[in-house]
Amino acid sequence: MPRFLCSLIALLIAALAWPASASQRAISFDDHAIPDSGAVALVVKKGLPALGDYATLDTASDGALTRAAKTAGFSGELGSVLNLPGVGGYEQVLLIGIGDQPLSTRVLEDVGGLVGQAAVNSAAPRIELLWPDASIPAAGAHLALGAALGGYRFDQYRTPKPDAPVLGEGEIVIRVADPRGSRTAWENDWQHVAEGVRFARDLSSEPGNAVYPEIFVERARAAFAGVANVQIEVLDEIQLASLGMRSLLAVGAGSQRPPRLFVARYRGAGNDEAPFAFVGKGITFDTGGISLKDNENMWRMKYDMSGAGSSVGALLALAKRQAKVNVVAVAALAENMPSGSASRPGDVVRTASGKTFEIMSTDAEGRMVLVDALWFVQERDRPRAIIDIATLTGSQVTAVGDEYAGLFARDETLASLLIDAGVASGEELWRLPLHDSYAKDLESPIADLRHSSGNRKAGAGVGAYFIGSWVAPEVPWAHLDIASMAWRDDPALPTVPVGASGFGVRLFDRLVRDHLEPK
Ligand code: BES
Ligand code: MN
Ligand code: ZN
Repeated sequence: MPRFLCSLIALLIAALAWPASASQRAISFDDHAIPDSGAVALVVKKGLPALGDYATLDTASDGALTRAAKTAGFSGELGSVLNLPGVGGYEQVLLIGIGDQPLSTRVLEDVGGLVGQAAVNSAAPRIELLWPDASIPAAGAHLALGAALGGYRFDQYRTPKPDAPVLGEGEIVIRVADPRGSRTAWENDWQHVAEGVRFARDLSSEPGNAVYPEIFVERARAAFAGVANVQIEVLDEIQLASLGMRSLLAVGAGSQRPPRLFVARYRGAGNDEAPFAFVGKGITFDTGGISLKDNENMWRMKYDMSGAGSSVGALLALAKRQAKVNVVAVAALAENMPSGSASRPGDVVRTASGKTFEIMSTDAEGRMVLVDALWFVQERDRPRAIIDIATLTGSQVTAVGDEYAGLFARDETLASLLIDAGVASGEELWRLPLHDSYAKDLESPIADLRHSSGNRKAGAGVGAYFIGSWVAPEVPWAHLDIASMAWRDDPALPTVPVGASGFGVRLFDRLVRDHLEPK
């Protein structure tokens, strides 16, 4: 059988085998009123002051809520939750601590997230979240965003146990002062952000045997079906070769699964404006190649395509919410495997730009796929700014841990807009240096550059510097190293369950929403 037929059939089988997307509780909105039975979630301030719904329900239950809270040592601290099954006439009462700091959309999202997480482990068919405060417009939409993000689970590969109670199914009703405004803001806007995050999380959670470059492309195509003003372009290995993208091809050379370049272009601001570009590292599995990783944490490298998932997920969110902006998202997709056809340390690679580099370790593959993708997007789209996003280095994990992604930028304005969007979205960035001395570390005796320094100094910065060498100096550019942020280890955050985080989607959405879209 011809090879292309074989791969076509394999693709069809893979497509048919896709599990249905994970179940999540439906979200609806209603007036703020206290139901007299069922499952309710209510907020409590620090120190348990007798205020609002908490006071009403506490009185109605003869002080049962305060007694339970005191016994459990629950004091309403921000981010704390007390789960009380069977209080008075209620199946379940959830007390959500909100501390005593000023309210913000971030606090709302965390409250929603805590309810979403608690709802995963509840058999109550309907959980009602009570939010009496009317000071933040469309508060319900932010509660809903949090609930959708916190209630995310990836359970495609688990077989349900026949006799176990059904947990995490049903709905979450958000009871707010402006249910109509909240519903509109959710349906027209924030629900699409949640969907972009879910897209990114699903792909990062999928194992390497399920998602390889061609499947990433199929999943992305399916997600964009019917979405207006989006054009998709996919380059296969033959097209990549004819464009001279040998750096991307060199990473995929050891794998049975050919590389791809996936490009999605969204026009929400007419045909004249140059787009912003989000370029993501899309290594569907990173063994290290010939510079093989050791086994201990290798399983994690299924999420080495998280940057690609987030750049495409962000564009999905922007297109679905019809943001007034032009954006191009590029996913540089390859699988990094060792084999007789794999690249070796010491190999010299000519990139599509014509510039050459020497491979120091085949485990520094992220920068290799990114530089060809960066060349491509600059040639084709002439972007007004470029942000690349990548699980690039262990060095970033060491430097900033799992509170921040690393930000490297040559452009002060872009850097400060990104930091600001990080705070507003809760996906925070910490800026790290891009020192000119890194150029010396990247000198090669045989090629224009070498692709890493071979010592352990400033590894994240040297990687960023290499990538930046492929971006024209006049183009505002930033690089995000999300190695530590793409996967959340225990403990969960309110809006980030343990596992794939989708880090970057909310950040990019906020960047566009707060700074790039016309007001
Ligand atoms: N994908 C890894 C980086 C990574 C590490 C991501 C931990 C997430 C968690 C990347 O391809 C890699 O292997 N980087 C090397 C670069 C080095 C060889 C210059 C690293 O950080 O060791
Ligand atoms: Mn690697
Ligand atoms: Zn990698």
